[in-house]
Amino acid sequence: MRIVLLGGAGYLGSVAAQHLAQLGHHVTVVDGLIYLRDDDPHRLLPAGCIFAPADLRDPDALRRASQGADAVVHLGGLVGEPACAVDEPLAVELNYASPILAHEAATRAGVPHYVFFSSCSVYGSREGTVTEDTLANPLGIYARTKVLAERRLAAMTTADQHLTVLRLATVHGRSPRQRLDSVVNRMTAHALSTGRIPLNGGAQRRPLVHVGDVALVLARVLTTGKGQRTFNVGSDRENYTIADIATTVEQVVPGARIDRGPERDEADARDYRTSFARLADAFPDLVPATLEHGVREVAEAVATGQLGEPDLPEYDNYRGLIASRDTGRISVLGSPECKRLHDEYATTTWSTL
Ligand SMILES: NC(=O)c1ccc[n+]([C@@H]2O[C@H](COP(=O)([O-])OP(=O)(O)OC[C@H]3O[C@@H](n4cnc5c(N)ncnc54)[C@H](O)[C@@H]3O)[C@@H](O)[C@H]2O)c1
Repeated sequence: MRIVLLGGAGYLGSVAAQHLAQLGHHVTVVDGLIYLRDDDPHRLLPAGCIFAPADLRDPDALRRASQGADAVVHLGGLVGEPACAVDEPLAVELNYASPILAHEAATRAGVPHYVFFSSCSVYGSREGTVTEDTLANPLGIYARTKVLAERRLAAMTTADQHLTVLRLATVHGRSPRQRLDSVVNRMTAHALSTGRIPLNGGAQRRPLVHVGDVALVLARVLTTGKGQRTFNVGSDRENYTIADIATTVEQVVPGARIDRGPERDEADARDYRTSFARLADAFPDLVPATLEHGVREVAEAVATGQLGEPDLPEYDNYRGLIASRDTGRISVLGSPECKRLHDEYATTTWSTL
């Protein structure tokens, strides 16, 4: 298959590109490398993979990238609430306008299958167990941009197209383009550097998934496109609390100790247990990696110096975004297309969904 990964030089995309190339697919990565890093994209990506630098808000670039593709996968965007809160109009352009412009380009180019990377963050805080049919409850800008993009993409998709939405659990593990700012990787790197695992409260439930398993799932859905589908991506047995994660890190990292503090008011309020039954039914042979596996990978990478200084902004999208914005590397585009979609986003209310 000819597969286009939009935002494919990121944490997930660089792992997915490797896996898809190994399976013999023809992979093109389109990425603007929006974070200030000195990564050579060719070093992050597999041999034979085409790299096309572009802004994912540029309709012409999206159209060029879509020509002749069997599938377009959107995994660009701003990840997480802290990064999205830096500049909401920018978050809306990257997380709402860009996926819609990419879908429009893919449709014009006759691409049969579009895959959108969303997040289990759309569930916010819920009692009981959430499934793909649970009403979304976005608690911030990141989750809201994802929910509204999902809905808009579904409405745009015609009967002769496939749309797959992947709502990912929080991802952990090693990637050529490492991130250390999500909960498991951050706790592990911090434990290695300081011997401490700060834990404030920690009762919030959080589903987890290993970065390699996201690539495996993507490969499977790409070869089984079928109408419109949404999957929570993770596994039932990988539902944890933040305190469970801290305990696992404590067990894996020699000498590290949990440092308990009071629950903080500004703590991330996401709290949900997630069902991954739909994914398990569709792909029963997939065996998920454990939390411990991801912790060991990251711990080894930090301990052996593969990542240099783990506290560098390049491992943290929030700090990386601020650095990129301050140096003019990324900013609100305000193009007519972005403006149209920003206005649409701003006027969408829950009652019109
Ligand atoms: N990592 C997680 O824990 C997680 C969890 C749930 C969902 N997701 C979703 O998965 C997707 C990928 O996440 P990730 O962790 O790989 O993020 P990442 O930040 O590592 O990668 C995103 C990539 O997109 C590129 N990009 C973003 N906007 C762009 C633009 N306008 N033009 C050109 N390039 C642009 C960036 O340069 C970067 O390489 C995102 O949609 C994210 O919301 C990730």
